[in-house]
Amino acid sequence: MAQIRIALASDHGGFGQKDDLKLWLESQGFAVDDFGCDDDSSVDYPDYAKLAARAVAQGDDDYGVLICGTGIGMMIAANKVRGIRAANLTSPEFARLSREHNNANVATLSGRFTSLEDNKKILETFLGTEFSGDRHTRRVEKIMSIENEE
Ligand code: RB5
Repeated sequence: MAQIRIALASDHGGFGQKDDLKLWLESQGFAVDDFGCDDDSSVDYPDYAKLAARAVAQGDDDYGVLICGTGIGMMIAANKVRGIRAANLTSPEFARLSREHNNANVATLSGRFTSLEDNKKILETFLGTEFSGDRHTRRVEKIMSIENEE
């Protein structure tokens, strides 16, 4: 089976967890493409969200994992990229539902308000849960059709 690829990125607010999450993802069997940032100096999260989200939208990576202070800015920026369904995740339950109901393809995480261990549990659930399909397919298709109505 082909290795699942993850596009990983953070700003300075998420940098403290990025390398640990990268090593952990690799230890779980995922291939990780790291789009930065490269240290904890202040940067602008949309620059990094855009790079990783585009890699997912183009099919170079299967999922995105984006970390900033809250995860919120990364989510808003990533959702501007056509084809992206980014969800800001603060619990394994929301991670499960974002996959089952919303077919989320990008997880955004908080590096300041969620611990590294909790973010690992969130990602374990996110990456281990399939989309439920059925009635949710119609709803996700309606979300994506908004991109063509603008
Ligand atoms: C940076 O200070 C902070 O605004 C950013 O990491 C993120 O939390 C934005 O949503």
